[in-house]
Amino acid sequence: MNIVEKCKVNAAKEAIKFIRDAKIIGVGTGSTVEKFVEQLIEIKKELKDKVFIASSIDTRIKLVEKGFCVADLLSVNEIDVYIDGADEVDPELNMIKGDGAAHTMEKILTFYSKKRVFIVDYTKLVKKLGEKHPVPVEVIPEATNLVKHYLENQGYKVKIRYPKKGKYGPIISDTYGLILDVYLNGKDYHDLLETLDKLPGVTGHGLFIGYADYVIVGYPEETKLLTRSD
Ligand code: A5P
Repeated sequence: MNIVEKCKVNAAKEAIKFIRDAKIIGVGTGSTVEKFVEQLIEIKKELKDKVFIASSIDTRIKLVEKGFCVADLLSVNEIDVYIDGADEVDPELNMIKGDGAAHTMEKILTFYSKKRVFIVDYTKLVKKLGEKHPVPVEVIPEATNLVKHYLENQGYKVKIRYPKKGKYGPIISDTYGLILDVYLNGKDYHDLLETLDKLPGVTGHGLFIGYADYVIVGYPEETKLLTRSD
């Protein structure tokens, strides 16, 4: 296991404390969440009464194949706690998410959860959002070119996301959208946020602003718990 993986495991282990009192647990998507699922497996016997809600087909498959009780999102009115990873976290705990194209469902689960906990390795910490990752924007397929050109006219570099292999054509998300990766190029994310929130055709985006209650940061030998008020 490399150092970054070890950091992910450390953060995932710490997140277990946050689910002890919860009945309905939302689970995000990605490689750090995979480590969290591995931790769940370790204490499976203690989780008999817990119900899980998955943010993606990938996470759902992983939980179901390990025998956890996964409920449909329609079957719950709220979620007690949500655990997920992130691509970038700034000092105010604002985040970019969506490198795995699951951010639309992830944001729904985040918003409707009573407690939101994000687990990251220390490489995800940035001074300013957009330093390392573009902002993923999900669009209704038919609107792809209109949204893309609108954002390009606003000065953003925009790329339609394609898979590395295994499919011709763009990636289609679990919620049947195409993904545009929007590069901030040093611009302030607030401007993009304002634009995206009013742009028809956009069904979701990876700017998670003001949502994280806690971020657990994994380091090789320890974890740090950041809270929104820090
Ligand atoms: C999935 O679409 C993303 O929002 C992930 O939560 C995010 O990319 C973090 O993934 P890793 O834990 O694999 O870095």
